[in-house]
Amino acid sequence: MNLDSSIFNQVMGNVYTAKSNGLNSRILPQTKPDSLFSKTNPLETKPPTQALFLTQTLDVKSVANSMIKIIDAKDSYTGKHSKSVQKYAGIFTKMLGFSDEESEFISVGSAFHDIGKISVPESILNSNSPLTNEEFEKIKQHPEVGCKILEGMPAFSEVASKIVRSHHESWDGSGYPDNLSGENIPTGARIVAIVDSYHAMTSNRPYRKGMPTDEAIRRLGNGAGTQWDPELVKEFIKISPMI
Ligand SMILES: [Fe+2]
Repeated sequence: MNLDSSIFNQVMGNVYTAKSNGLNSRILPQTKPDSLFSKTNPLETKPPTQALFLTQTLDVKSVANSMIKIIDAKDSYTGKHSKSVQKYAGIFTKMLGFSDEESEFISVGSAFHDIGKISVPESILNSNSPLTNEEFEKIKQHPEVGCKILEGMPAFSEVASKIVRSHHESWDGSGYPDNLSGENIPTGARIVAIVDSYHAMTSNRPYRKGMPTDEAIRRLGNGAGTQWDPELVKEFIKISPMI
């Protein structure tokens, strides 16, 4: 399915407006409401359409949800996956005692983590057979592509560089795209890497059945210290029954 251009244009319009006006802020008409009406002219009983539009609130969450719709329009599995990863990350960061601000940052990063997959052909994303090396190399570009999509927007540039770009790095330095290792991988990316893998392992795909949760937990334990942050895996295993 092609990316729906009307959804894309609508969202990019939202993003542009949000960017221009500052996210998380209520956007009010430039003119005081009283002056929009003429008390002497009975025909002017409604404010201009633009004034109604400008009273709407745009915030990071609504833009994040719109971004998920873009991903969903391209590939419904990735859209649902992004939502689930966002939900799991929210539970995990809460249990870790992160502040609301930190949790929100990681939540937005979770929603966006795979946005770069809009550059990957559907034939690869929905392939029923094992990927060729060439196809896998194409998929491996999605963290960098996602980072490039978001980094031009000041509200999302940090999420882009600290989560989206680094969510496929590995604790032992064997990940991509930058071969970061250990604590050089931003914390948000280390968290998303765990919840992303857990959801991917337990999900049904056209080419395989999702594995049982206890098997996914066992694999996370085996990969602690090589693929994933060992301390965070330990914490995730403790809270996994709540997910
Ligand atoms: Fe990814």
